[in-house]
Amino acid sequence: MSLKTNLHSLSEKVEKLNPVEALGFLSDLFPRKVVFSTSLGQEDQVITQLIADNDLSIHIFSLDTGRLFPETLDLIARTESKYNRKIQVLYPEKASLENLIATIGINGFYDSVENRKSCCHVRKVETLKRALAGNSIWVTGLRSEQSANRSSMRKIEWDEANHIIKFNPLLDWSYDQLISYIQENKILYNPLHDKGFISIGCAPCTRAISAGEDARAGRWWWEESKKECGLHAK
Ligand code: ADX
Ligand code: SF4
Repeated sequence: MSLKTNLHSLSEKVEKLNPVEALGFLSDLFPRKVVFSTSLGQEDQVITQLIADNDLSIHIFSLDTGRLFPETLDLIARTESKYNRKIQVLYPEKASLENLIATIGINGFYDSVENRKSCCHVRKVETLKRALAGNSIWVTGLRSEQSANRSSMRKIEWDEANHIIKFNPLLDWSYDQLISYIQENKILYNPLHDKGFISIGCAPCTRAISAGEDARAGRWWWEESKKECGLHAK
């Protein structure tokens, strides 16, 4: 049976479980085929802690775009050490990246939405495709509240772009719930969050937000676009 055919029954089962039960259930059902992509964001740090503390057999990886904040890179090392888990770090293909820079320029993503999407494509989307190939379940830290685009997502859904089942264990968590969990469980987090950064991506494309601003307002702040990089195509 194809992966996609299992979606409905899988979804019914997983909906009844809490995040850690669901992660355990899926990693037993698909041994060595469940992978988690972490951007080291607050949601991702919670999932890493759940995986590590429950010793779940889920491979953790991160996409280093080459333009991340030093604080984020530092957090990879600190997270590996605190939770005693390796995080595989993947990089964009050298030839694609060199071609991109030759075409749009080193900071060409500021010039147009098209350029920006090309940069996200080379630095993230292509790398993600490589990381997911051959696996069955892709775990993410997406939450419905993060954006209009994300409010219609399901906990278990089919990702057509990568031909994989996507699992978003914290989809229905509120921001307040997330912060309480982080405080109560002393989860390691990016120091930039305490400086007004909520959603954190690449350094040149992320700024701090002010009180009352949308949580994703600091991402690609100069654009009027839907503010997605293409990892979570809908
Ligand atoms: S993005 O599409 O705008 O960049 P966002 O930062 O909200 O995504 O993160 C949502 C989820 O996408 C994260 O919880 C994580 O699973 C995945 N993700 C985003 N960026 C990365 C990255 N650099 N490496 C690995 N996973 C990532
Ligand atoms: Fe490029 Fe900015 Fe996208 Fe990072 S967020 S991949 S620097 S356009």
